[in-house]
This record gives sequence, structure tokens and C-alpha cells, in this order.
Amino acid sequence: PQKIILDVDTGIDDSLALLYLLASPEAEIIGIAATAGNVPTAQVAINTAALLELTGAGGIEVAAGADEPLAVPLRTTEDTHGPQGLGYAELPVPTHPLSDRSAASMWVELARAQPGEVIGLCTGPLTNLALALRIEPELPRLLRRLVIMGGAFNHPGNTTPTNEWNIHVDPEAAKEVFDAFSAAPPDRRPLVCALDITETIEMRPEHLIALAEAAHSLPIERVDAGDQPEWRSAASNPVIRYLTDAVRFYFDFHHLYDLGYLAHMHDPFAAAVALDPALATTRPATVDVELAGTITRATTVADWAGMWGREPNADIVIGTDPAVFFERLVTRVGALARR
Ligand code: BDR
Ligand code: CA
Repeated sequence: PQKIILDVDTGIDDSLALLYLLASPEAEIIGIAATAGNVPTAQVAINTAALLELTGAGGIEVAAGADEPLAVPLRTTEDTHGPQGLGYAELPVPTHPLSDRSAASMWVELARAQPGEVIGLCTGPLTNLALALRIEPELPRLLRRLVIMGGAFNHPGNTTPTNEWNIHVDPEAAKEVFDAFSAAPPDRRPLVCALDITETIEMRPEHLIALAEAAHSLPIERVDAGDQPEWRSAASNPVIRYLTDAVRFYFDFHHLYDLGYLAHMHDPFAAAVALDPALATTRPATVDVELAGTITRATTVADWAGMWGREPNADIVIGTDPAVFFERLVTRVGALARR
């Protein structure tokens, strides 16, 4: 199977990315790096370990990253992901011990041990990867491929008018990562899933119902048909119950911001693309991150036309069929829940 290092700030949609990978027979997660972002690093590590235990995957290494971004204080977003980061879900405190190596050391050691074989998937701020690149500048050549959820190009931001959250939290790290790939050959360019594409991946209550059905779990009930419908899981299946409680918070958050009663599946989409790039069409570009600026700091800029005279350092996802992604999510995670 394809070896994967997952770097997460779990996080509701990060948790679905994790479940998607665990549910995919062609993937083998060889290490998980916890990064500060949606919630602080320690909480990310707890959430991630709790999810591994929920699905019987407790043996996977979880390494904690830095507590703070490279150059700025940490900002978290409990508004978006709930007080502990997993929406309304409350999972048992995990017994899973944390790795005794740092997230950055884990990245470097795993990539060195199996050169050309490991895909790195980053669904949070890029702090750990930037620190790993400072230790091992050859990482772009040691990894088989890097897949990043982050940025907003020809699309508004979700944190400031031009900033996407993961880049906003640690823009210095993001710049170091994109700069490190400036000489990467075309087949090693990071695949970038930015808001331009991930905001087209709209999960709706119907998808949760389909997931429960795929897991042969009790259906999810709509208990309030008012303006803001409530979905409550009568599910006895622990994975379906988790998903319902987590994703319902994400629906409520998107609804609060007038985006509809739905949730953008940023991180699970990036996971699906990491395993099967054929899900997406891409376009090469040179990506850079604004670090100065009075109103545009942490904005990602894509030079699509070579105007800077620099080689492309990214393949940006520009198209996909969301229905194909959701079909896979439902089938795979439904089967995982049934196990
Ligand atoms: C990204 O921000 C986080 O809140 C999500 O988990 C996702 O990785 C989307 O901008
Ligand atoms: Ca995330």
C-alpha cells in the first residue's frame, strides 16, 4: 500500500480525512504529525489518538509538533470546530501514548528511511513540515509527493478577504515550504487543494444519512424541521455517532455564516486526491506567500503564466467531480464503520 505521513490540526474535517485514509485499503498511514491550528497541538494529539482508538487503529504513531507557528502567536478557531475541535462529539480520553520524537523529526526519519515511497499529506498549518525542511532540505526529493490543503487563489479567503485558514495561521511556514519546492521536478510538485476547489465539496445531511446506511447503522433523524434543522443520530454505531455529532457542528457553523446547511470537506478531499490524483485536474503555477503587506499578509499568490520567470513549484487542483468524491467517502467510511 501507499505509505502516508498525515500532518493534521484535528479538526472536524481533518478527522474525516483521517477516517477516509483508515478506510482506504490502498493506504497505510505510517505516522501522524499533530500541528497547532484549529485547536492547540496537545488537543490535536488527543483528538487524533481518540479517533484512532475509536476505529481500532491505536497502533499508529502520533507525534506532537511545535506549540506555536514559526514567527507569530498561535490563533485557534473553536468557533469553526467546537470547544475541543471535534464539534459536538465527545470521545473517550485516549490511552494511546504520544511518540517520543517530535513531529519534524518523524517527518525526516520516515522520509529518509523509505526514499521516494512516502506521500506527505498536510491538512493543517505547515509549521511541522517547515521545521522538517530546516533539518532535511532534501525532503522534496525524498518524498514521493506532497499534497497540501491550503491557500486561496482566484477565490476569496475564509479567514480574511484573501487568506485561507491554514496559511493564515503560519504564513512563514507556508512560504518556506513553497520555496523549498522551487526546483522540484514536475512529478514532485506539491498538489495543492485550495479553497477554490475545496469549497465546491459540499457535504449535506443526505451524505450523513447515506453513510449511516452504508454502515448498516440506525438512520439519522431530523428532529427539528425549522430554519436550522437539527440532525440527531440514534446510531448505536460509534463511528456513525461520532460523525453525526462532529459534522452537525460543522453544518451549524456553515449555516451561521450563510453558506447553507452544509459543510465544506476541505481536508477529506485532499486525502482522496493524495490517494488518487486522477480525481482532480490540475494546472502548474508558481506559488508564493505574501509576508509583508498591510492588508494582504498571508495571501497565497499563484503565477499561472510565468510572469515572475520562476519555474512552477505547485500543481493546483482546478477541477473535480464532487459526486465521485462523496461516493467514495460514503462507501469507504461506511465500510470502516461496519467493521
Ligand atoms: C482549513 O482550515 C481548517 O479549519 C480546516 O480543517 C481546513 O484544513 C480550510 O481553510
Ligand atoms: Ca485542517
